[in-house]
Amino acid sequence: MSRDLTIHSAIHDYTVNFVDDFTKSLHGLVTPDDMLLIDANVADLYKDRLQPILIKFPHIIIQATEEKKNYTELVPIIEKLIQLGFRKNNKIFAIGGGITQDIATFIAANLYRGVEWYFFPTTLLAQADSCIGGKASINFGPYKNLLGNFYPPWKIFIDLSFIDTLPRKEIVSGLGEMTHFYFVSGECDYQVMRESYSKAFDDKTTLEKLVHRNLNIKKATIEIDEFDRKERLIFNYGHSFGHAIESVTGYRIPHGIAVSYGMDIANFVSLKMGLIDESQYQKMREVLQFNWQEVPLGNIDINSFLNALRKDKKNIGSEVRVILTRGLGQMFISSLNIDGQADNWIREYFTNQI
Ligand SMILES: NC(=O)c1ccc[n+]([C@@H]2O[C@H](COP(=O)([O-])OP(=O)(O)OC[C@H]3O[C@@H](n4cnc5c(N)ncnc54)[C@H](O)[C@@H]3O)[C@@H](O)[C@H]2O)c1
Ligand SMILES: [Zn+2]
Repeated sequence: MSRDLTIHSAIHDYTVNFVDDFTKSLHGLVTPDDMLLIDANVADLYKDRLQPILIKFPHIIIQATEEKKNYTELVPIIEKLIQLGFRKNNKIFAIGGGITQDIATFIAANLYRGVEWYFFPTTLLAQADSCIGGKASINFGPYKNLLGNFYPPWKIFIDLSFIDTLPRKEIVSGLGEMTHFYFVSGECDYQVMRESYSKAFDDKTTLEKLVHRNLNIKKATIEIDEFDRKERLIFNYGHSFGHAIESVTGYRIPHGIAVSYGMDIANFVSLKMGLIDESQYQKMREVLQFNWQEVPLGNIDINSFLNALRKDKKNIGSEVRVILTRGLGQMFISSLNIDGQADNWIREYFTNQI
């Protein structure tokens, strides 16, 4: 069965192809006028396979850190593109995870008012989630993901063998991010994630099925609401609380793991509000806990956490916008007054639940 997908977009339709050898797809498309943007760790780990391409085609190596995903850090990359004679009809080929993707999307969308670009995601998070949807998020000074736009690649090539070199905590981060799509989807997908989780680490068939299903869950929603105005907002489930965790831990906790803690906090608040009962809460927690083993949360300064939550960019006025749940597949947008009762619930969560 073909696992390839076409994503319909108001900007342009694009495809996702599952491939066995990314170098073949790259060789078939890239020309000497194009530019490769490659994650430094990937360039190093895959140097033998990339060497025949790198000696022939211009490339820029990117350090995949949050510091480098900053607006000012894009300047040297754009300068280099211009210096090397990159033009509007040339193409960018990005090879890396979500950081490389965000940098490539932002530059491809803005340089010469838009150039064609292609993406080879190398992390599980990028393969299963971020590669589709078209979002770019760039940090501005200390503010994470403050600048951005929508500009999907023309084609995406998923080579699951990249996952062989990915550190375990990055695989868990990918599975954590995927868990939130599976929970939003409902009971049936929850069961699939619960049963497949442990196999995903060394069985590529299981991993490919999980990635493919994740992309399909996301595709169904982004095709209705590509620009995050209504239906797609549900995928912020776990994210407001997760971003606050990333912020107060200085990004020590990888994104997908922070989101897994974030989902548990959203579920705990939902439990306290009487939206779900204890058994529903524990049922979801059973799977969420798989994602916590690799990176324990450690001590969280609750006041800093609450302050980070107050500053979330999705907030409107003094209320904190969050996604709560009435159970699997029943997430909904809500707002919390965290100076009121929610303050006590969050304090109780960090004191007793973790
Ligand atoms: N644009 C979007 O839709 C979107 C969605 C989710 C997250 N993001 C952003 O993506 C970033 C996180 O991305 P990510 O989790 O994909 O990882 P990443 O790009 O931050 O990479 C994580 C680490 O893994 C390394 N790496 C990448 N591929 C590897 C491989 N195959 N083998 C070994 N090491 C490898 C990288 O060098 C880096 O050290 C965050 O900045 C987040 O804000 C963007
Ligand atoms: Zn996310």
